[in-house]
Amino acid sequence: MPIIIKSGTLITASETFDADILIDGEKIVSVGKNIDISNAQLIDAAGKLVMPGGIDPHTHLDLPMFATVSSDDHYTGHKAAAFGGTTTVMDFVPQDYDTLREAVEVWHAKADDKAAIDFSFHMNITRLDEQVEREIPQLLDLGITTLKVFMAYNSRLRLQDGEIYRVLRIAREYGMLTMLHAENGDVIDILVAEALADGQTSPEWHARTRPGWGGVEAVLRGAALAKQADSPLYVVHVNQVGEAEQLGYARQRGVNIMGETCPPYLFFTDQQLERPDGAKWICSPPMRTVEDNQGLWQALADGTLQTIGTDHCPFFFDGTQAIEYEGKPVAIPGKELGKDDFSKIPNGVPGVGDRLPIMWTYGVGAGRITPNQFVALTSTNVAKIFGLYPQKGALVPGADADIVIWDPNRRLTYGVAHAQHRTDYNLYENWELVGYPEKVFLRGDLIVVGERWLGKPGGGRYLSREPNAIMI
Ligand code: URP
Ligand code: ZN
Ligand code: ZN
Repeated sequence: MPIIIKSGTLITASETFDADILIDGEKIVSVGKNIDISNAQLIDAAGKLVMPGGIDPHTHLDLPMFATVSSDDHYTGHKAAAFGGTTTVMDFVPQDYDTLREAVEVWHAKADDKAAIDFSFHMNITRLDEQVEREIPQLLDLGITTLKVFMAYNSRLRLQDGEIYRVLRIAREYGMLTMLHAENGDVIDILVAEALADGQTSPEWHARTRPGWGGVEAVLRGAALAKQADSPLYVVHVNQVGEAEQLGYARQRGVNIMGETCPPYLFFTDQQLERPDGAKWICSPPMRTVEDNQGLWQALADGTLQTIGTDHCPFFFDGTQAIEYEGKPVAIPGKELGKDDFSKIPNGVPGVGDRLPIMWTYGVGAGRITPNQFVALTSTNVAKIFGLYPQKGALVPGADADIVIWDPNRRLTYGVAHAQHRTDYNLYENWELVGYPEKVFLRGDLIVVGERWLGKPGGGRYLSREPNAIMI
């Protein structure tokens, strides 16, 4: 039966206007005033906001790390995302197998039957030789158009600059996009070894051994490599204003470079790591200073940064204690693995479900970004940059009916009890929110109604993405 979402205020990346939306099957069929057809189901959205479903360009679900695995899998992470208004996520495939194709098959085996929202993959390139160079273009047949490279995690994930340059050139030839983790792996390794030799084992040493300047020079180095390869570059998890300034410098000089930040970098600093529960905030790169928080807000508002992802990579704070998840006890080893050595704390924080509600209250509500920028940064720009637009990220006829009906007046005290991540803590515990998703549609199916979950494993679909995407 067709559905009409009636009398809502639509918010897109560029406009705000009152209209109805007609959905037939999986698609939006029309958008306009007073849509009326006899056999439709009516959903009253009067007084509500209607936005395209969120798209998170950066998750790590069911990711092996150190002696454990990230605690959300491709079902639980998708479910958490959906409750927060996100209907598409993009996950990174580790290159831990003989061929890239095999790596992608392993990730499909993990994800396909569990997926509860739509999803796609980026490929990590962490080892480069002639065979891998030949395999990269074949990723296009698998719907993968994006390659993540690392300047840190020496002898595990890192590529040398010349190798990154080679990846960038292949990406240019095939219309692919390279994504960069910008830190200085050499300096980090020296400082971590020295800190541990000095007996410095507590969480604050995670940030102290990853100096900010390493990220600043790494972003500029990445920009220079991209310019020399004449290939676009997307810098993931920009965590400090110095990196945003390098992005601005390069963009002003015609480098095709874009950047993503993540909510924790807008709110928290390295001071969190000094708390008794500081391990909860350990991720790479680390959170920095109040000036960095402010500078990143500015970079979002002025267009220097194009997207807000989450880098969702959750671990339990205390993985020896079970939590209840869908009625069953679950305990997964987590941050306690590094209680005697900060370098053994699994890197990563939860966030896929927090992103939209937190950014709405503390971004839009606080006057730091407009509602249209909110939609652009969390959905439309992501769809454009990653080759999904206008199938995703748009409220137009022909687009997938991925729609969030947002209650701008809903007030709640947020935290682990409310967020749906499969972990035992939340970074935004006791934060007051104003505005929250009320209903979430995935391709025309209602999957969230308030606190009720109507989605299911296997309800999400793999998205093959197109090369030569839009640069912003
Ligand atoms: O700490 C983090 N962010 N873990 C995930 C890996 C990465 O570099 O994104
Ligand atoms: Zn990274
Ligand atoms: Zn990541």
